[in-house]
Amino acid sequence: MAEIDLGVIDLGIGRPHHAVLPVAEISAASLRVAAGGSRDGLQYGPDPGMYDLRSLLAHFLSAQYGLEVRSQELVMTYGASHALDLVLGRYTQPGDTVLVEDPTYFFALDVLRGRGVRPIPVAMDQQGIVPDDLRQQLRTHSPRLLYTVPTFHNPTGIVHTSARRQEVVALTKEHDCWIVADEVYHLLCDGTRPKPLRAYSADNVLSISSFSKILAPGLRLGWVEAAPRHIDQLLQCGVFRSGGAASPYVSSIVEEVITLGDLDRVLIGLRTFYADRMRGVVAALRHELPAEVTFEDPGGGFFLWLRAPATVDFEHLRDRARDMGVDYRAGSLFSCHGSFANCLRICCTYYSEQETREGIVRLGQFLRRTFS
Ligand SMILES: Cc1ncc(COP(=O)(O)O)c(C=O)c1O
Repeated sequence: MAEIDLGVIDLGIGRPHHAVLPVAEISAASLRVAAGGSRDGLQYGPDPGMYDLRSLLAHFLSAQYGLEVRSQELVMTYGASHALDLVLGRYTQPGDTVLVEDPTYFFALDVLRGRGVRPIPVAMDQQGIVPDDLRQQLRTHSPRLLYTVPTFHNPTGIVHTSARRQEVVALTKEHDCWIVADEVYHLLCDGTRPKPLRAYSADNVLSISSFSKILAPGLRLGWVEAAPRHIDQLLQCGVFRSGGAASPYVSSIVEEVITLGDLDRVLIGLRTFYADRMRGVVAALRHELPAEVTFEDPGGGFFLWLRAPATVDFEHLRDRARDMGVDYRAGSLFSCHGSFANCLRICCTYYSEQETREGIVRLGQFLRRTFS
């Protein structure tokens, strides 16, 4: 059994556990690429991405989504973060407004700000985006885009319901606002969950995703899936004109992983791993947390969102938590107006099961002391 690090266990870190990174599958695929002797992966590739990878990925996504994805609807990127930046670069000007969920993925806020775009918060509840607030913000700001994380939302873990997905798509369409759906966690859920957002409108939604959560973030390979007219727009970007396809060599390795059937196998393993991990974390939290702190069980994904009474400010309490050997991400980090100071996000995937359990024990001690 691994020794528990007696330093700070940072439950805020939103990364996969080392043990799930598929080193054997990537090594096998890399050896096959090297043995094949092709120089294609060492040359500049076509702007939308390597042809074989896009067609394998289109086939894979079609089977996973139960929805046709065509290779012409895909442009490969250096990850979902790059995909978001790419979309913002083509579709916004500095000073434009973009609607974001409140709370939202905090690094997405950085990407928006990096493009000089003003994020406008839209309220969420347990079902997803609140339609009345969305309507109001669409009317007030006439935004070009809405950025949303519809499945295993970061930071709340919420999976938006089908009814909400439908309503949000309909409302944004009415107001000529496109949706950027960040679906990096979508494939971690099983087939009983709502479909990806393009199922509700193929034209209005640009889906961004990557191999970061389904294979390994270090591959730095992702994609935008959108209607051909959007793909044509995105390909006007100078980065593709100058550099060609995103990562041809890594693409050739991922092609092999898919061809060998390893992506399917890895994904099945990950779903079980993360679902088990979430079950364990939820049970531990129910045991350790004081009554003042509540949460909903997301049923999977990476994140849990803990809520305390409104008078609490978890950013201010972080040093005290660290003194007690545990850390988290304070809720205010995820809000463009600094709301949710009384909430915190933890991730249940980065540490081993034993270390995570110890982190939750420490979190419970810290919270019980805070409320005693
Ligand atoms: C919602 C969300 N989008 C994007 C990313 C980053 O994705 P990528 O590694 O593909 O850039 C993360 C990583 O934590 C995330 O949580």
